[in-house]
Amino acid sequence: LFRGDCQFMLGVTTMAALPPPDLPEFAFAGRSNVGKSSLINRLTGRKALARTSNTPGRTRELNFFDLGGRLRLVDLPGYGYAKASRSAVESWTGLTRDFLRGRPNLRRVHILVDSRHGLKPVDEETMSLLDESAVPYQLVLTKIDKIKPTEAARRIKAVGEAIGRRPAAHPDIIATSSETGDGIAALREGMTSIAAT
Ligand code: GTP
Ligand code: MG
Repeated sequence: LFRGDCQFMLGVTTMAALPPPDLPEFAFAGRSNVGKSSLINRLTGRKALARTSNTPGRTRELNFFDLGGRLRLVDLPGYGYAKASRSAVESWTGLTRDFLRGRPNLRRVHILVDSRHGLKPVDEETMSLLDESAVPYQLVLTKIDKIKPTEAARRIKAVGEAIGRRPAAHPDIIATSSETGDGIAALREGMTSIAAT
C-alpha cells in the first residue's frame, strides 16, 4: 500500500469541497509543530509531499493525499497555536470539527504527541471529541529521537495510563521518529490492516 504511487490530491477549506467519501481515510491531528506533515512524508517515503516548516501553524487547510487510489491521508491543521485559544476545539475551524465528527469514511485519527512534551489538555480535549463521536484513534509519539530511551519509556507509560482512563478502548501508543524511521513500519501495518477490513 505504501510502496505505490502517492500524490497530493487537494487542499480543502469548505465542506462542499471535500472529495467524495469513497475511500478509507486516515487523519493526522496534533498540536502545531508536533510533526504531522513530517510523519506523512516519512510514511509515504516522499521527502516533500506534505509541506513541513519551523513556523507553527503552517498547515491551515485539510490536505488530502491519495495512496495509489486505495486510501487517503489527511493532514489536519495543528491546534493550540493561536495565543487566544488554549483549546484545540477553539483553534480549529468549524471545518476540521465537522470533518472529524461526521466523515463516514474516516477510519482512524492519529493523534500526534511530541515525545518531549507529553499529553497536554488540548490533546485530551481532542480525544474527548473523538470518543463522543465514536471515531477510532491511535496515539502516536513523535520525535522520539529527541529524547533518551529511559525518558521515552516513562513517556510511553504515562500516555498509556491516560489512554486507559478513556471511556472506550484504544490501541497502545506507537513511538515514532520521522528522522530515523522508528515506529513507521508499525504505523503502516496498523493502517494497512484497518484499510483491508
Ligand atoms: P503544523 O503544520 O505547523 O501544525 O506543523 P506539523 O505538525 O506539520 O509539523 P512539521 O512536520 O512541519 O514539523 C515541525 C518541525 O519538527 C520541523 O522542523 C521538522 O523537521 C521537525 N520534526 C518533525 N518530525 C521530527 C522527528 O521525528 N524528529 C526530529 N528530530 N524532528 C522532527
Ligand atoms: Mg503541517
